[in-house]
Amino acid sequence: MCGIVGYIGSRQAQDVLISGLAKLEYRGYDSAGVAIRNGTHIEVKKKAGKLANLSTLLEGAPLEGTLGIGHTRWATHGLPNDSNAHPHATEDGRIVIIHNGIIENYLTLKAGLIERGHSFKSETDSEVLAHLIEEAYSGDLYEAVRAALGQVRGAYGIVVTHVDHREIVAARTVSPLVMGVGEGEMFLASDVPALLPYTRKMVFLHDGDMVVLHDDGFRITDLAGNPVVRDIEHIDWDAEAAEKGGYDTYMLKEIYEQPTALTNTLIGRLHDETGEVNLDINLDPASFKRISIIACGTAYYAGLVGEYLIEQLARIPVEVDVASEYRYRSPLVSENTLAIVVSQSGETIDTLEALREAKKHGAKTLGVINAKGSSMTRELDDTLYIHAGPEIGVASTKAYTAQVSAMLMLALWLARARNTLTDEKAKELLHAARELPRLVEEALAPERVEAIKKVAEKYAHARDYLFLGRGVNAPTALEGALKLKEISYIHAEGYAAGEMKHGPIALIDENLPVVVIATESFLLEKTISNLQEVRARAGKVIAILSDGDTANAVHADDVLYVPRAHEMVSPIVNVVALQLLSYFTATALGKDVDKPRNLAKSVTVE
Ligand code: F6R
Repeated sequence: MCGIVGYIGSRQAQDVLISGLAKLEYRGYDSAGVAIRNGTHIEVKKKAGKLANLSTLLEGAPLEGTLGIGHTRWATHGLPNDSNAHPHATEDGRIVIIHNGIIENYLTLKAGLIERGHSFKSETDSEVLAHLIEEAYSGDLYEAVRAALGQVRGAYGIVVTHVDHREIVAARTVSPLVMGVGEGEMFLASDVPALLPYTRKMVFLHDGDMVVLHDDGFRITDLAGNPVVRDIEHIDWDAEAAEKGGYDTYMLKEIYEQPTALTNTLIGRLHDETGEVNLDINLDPASFKRISIIACGTAYYAGLVGEYLIEQLARIPVEVDVASEYRYRSPLVSENTLAIVVSQSGETIDTLEALREAKKHGAKTLGVINAKGSSMTRELDDTLYIHAGPEIGVASTKAYTAQVSAMLMLALWLARARNTLTDEKAKELLHAARELPRLVEEALAPERVEAIKKVAEKYAHARDYLFLGRGVNAPTALEGALKLKEISYIHAEGYAAGEMKHGPIALIDENLPVVVIATESFLLEKTISNLQEVRARAGKVIAILSDGDTANAVHADDVLYVPRAHEMVSPIVNVVALQLLSYFTATALGKDVDKPRNLAKSVTVE
């Protein structure tokens, strides 16, 4: 996460930066800082904690100057203290940078820089950028930034200023960056709301774009230095629409944010060369004899996928509990138990109480959590943050896919320590995980979304729905049914496909739409048999098939194709189609998807 702002013009930069950062604090509030260029020098002020701490610091002694950059931090590398706060400057203070993202190869780069005489003031990955730019600088800031970025691997929104130049140089890959175009002034920010008070003319920078800002204009290139043309868009959103990024609802925005959320969950944690994952967890993965996963609702379904992955890959017994039941069933727990709680908010009281119960019986505890600093994180032995960004829509979407990808990384972490995976297999899975942001992006291609919308509208007046899936996608069926219930109020059941014949088959008639997740799998033939059983009873089959599977399409009333994915990561790709199916069903019925009746985002009652 992290939020970044830049300004060049005739206003006092400090005011623009602080007001912009206030709008971006949702992106992180571990520290805040600004750097302002004032003729002969650049002054940096930064402070750990919320923006209010920085504002207090600046109150007595405001910084003068009309060019500046500002940052609000969500710590990834290095503690949330003053020295790790951005901006980061070179030793002589002549180059100053802010960064949002993760530089994956920073350790290697840092070692090289130290060898060549650079000394570091922070523990962050970001500081290497300042030193690389310094090393490459010979009078042209843009060229120096370009040369530095040529050496880094990872995600970045970076904004740079140099004492000798009245200009700002910025670039992005993965991390968002939007440029505001004013009259004799230019702006940059991680998100539109930070710029709305100043301009409505904006340019959304794309991955691999670099930009140089001057008082009266800008120049965009790609990382190779070739000129790039981007449209200036007029943003007529009101404040609420701006927070929804132009989407009709938070839920839709969050569905579309999934490629970025997944990148943020996975980045810096997968090591392709060795087949290892680096999760920075202070627990010994080889010491556990049993895993207990505890969560509620959608997070519980992420836990069920986790059970499948951990047992398959790490060959260790896993049980998954609904948190509200866990503490009342006298669970068998010992010091060899690792209790993993999964929670977007980190505040759900059932999960928090279950965590306390597991701890009381001596389990080691690990959280898969989105909300930083939430109640659970204060009680857990360690936390694996999913970094999905704020999830406002009540129905969980991006947190779910990020949680499942975190479960895959945990399965790999355990498997490597227990020697249950060959290097080859580990690398194959790492590769599959790396592909996820791209595959989910593909799953959101306009023609697929349009096809899903059509199917949703066709069946929007159904009274009930059934969702079926097998193996690692059995929980996908449960999650699909939950999403539909929550936001469209259509009664829906999710079942393991093989279980249908043991009861739910009695429900099937010509009015029942049955969503069958039948993507590539060693169980595909069996799933297709279940699909035939639905057909034979006149049920309406909506098949979720892998791209190119025309053979099985003939058995279905409607087909929704999804990108082909490794079976172990397929739940993340497949669920996107189900999220959209629920979404368009609910909107066809005129429901308020962001605030479904009777539900709350964070459930703090038992
Ligand atoms: C469903 C949904 C809920 C939550 C559940 C747990 O869309 O959002 O089922 O998953 O209330 O919430 P967290 O993850 O915050 O503990």
